[in-house]
Amino acid sequence: MTKTTHKIYISSMVSIIVIATIYLAYTGYSYYNTVLEERFYHPKHDWFKPSGAYGHGLGIIGTLMILFGVSIYIARKRYNFLGKFIRLKYLLEFHIFLCTLGPIMVLFHTAFKFGGIVSVAFWSMVAVVLSGVIGRFIYIQIPRTIEGRELSLQEVKSMKTDLSNVLSEKFRLDLPTVQFLIRFTKNNEKDQNKVSLSELKKALKHSNLTKTERGSILKLLKNERTLSRRIGRLQTMQKLFKYWHVAHLPFALVMLIIVIIHVAVTLAFGYKWIF
Ligand code: HEM
Ligand code: HEM
Repeated sequence: MTKTTHKIYISSMVSIIVIATIYLAYTGYSYYNTVLEERFYHPKHDWFKPSGAYGHGLGIIGTLMILFGVSIYIARKRYNFLGKFIRLKYLLEFHIFLCTLGPIMVLFHTAFKFGGIVSVAFWSMVAVVLSGVIGRFIYIQIPRTIEGRELSLQEVKSMKTDLSNVLSEKFRLDLPTVQFLIRFTKNNEKDQNKVSLSELKKALKHSNLTKTERGSILKLLKNERTLSRRIGRLQTMQKLFKYWHVAHLPFALVMLIIVIIHVAVTLAFGYKWIF
């Protein structure tokens, strides 16, 4: 997918979600806006109610979208299904698309009436969607290969230059000076041994280096410090993302189990949709 196709891919998904939501809200507005006790007398009650042709259909199609959006992502991620054809990254975007549109359709299926045990499924669904949004934020903070695979800490660390070698060989600095300069790049804010920027500049001024050399050393050290901080943040994000899975997945399971019960109950009551 080129950058332009990717932009089209994302914007079409966003447009579909926005247009569908506006359509669903607009067509059913007068029904959803009627108080529960009076809905029975609404001319389109049999159409919009959760067991009506339209309301029931929204529940079924929305649930199928969620199921498909989850299974295709897991199939690709864990079993490399369609691995040659589609990148994990694009499939995650598709997961987010289906698992946003599906819940919106389910919301209109309920006709904003959250009763019984099935309301637990509804609120679990809301929790999964909200946790999904948070997960997406964490996800994009973690550096990945172009494929979408998480880069390991080792891989990111290998991007760092061997700074002490450069300082001692290229700039002919002695070992204690190199060690002093390196201390500036350490990412730990609370480190007692940390060297501040002014201390660093002072030390460089007292050395025998030219102005241009001092400038390039400063640049090198600042880059290194940024990378160290990024690695520190990456470790935090990887940990956070592990904890995040502990929220997203169980809510999805709770939802699945209650929806199965909910569907079984409606079938037992004889609701067959259009079949
Ligand atoms: C995430 C999925 C779903 C959620 C959260 C959900 C939620 C709800 C809620 C909150 C209601 C209203 C309950 C009330 O009257 O107070 C309802 C009703 C209903 N749902 Fe679902 N639903 C889902 C999926 C489905 C599916 C897949 C089907 C059918 C295969 C279905 C069939 C029905 C029917 C027939 C009713 C009307 C029941 C009645 O009037 O007694 N739902 N659903
Ligand atoms: C009802 C809606 C949703 C359900 C049932 C659902 C379910 C799941 C499941 C079962 C996984 C796989 C977890 C794993 O591999 O351990 C997953 C992954 C994920 N989902 Fe969702 N999801 C939903 C909506 C969303 C939404 C709305 C977003 C984002 C806005 C989202 C973002 C993610 C992310 C970032 C991952 C993790 C990707 C990874 O670790 O590779 N999900 N979801």
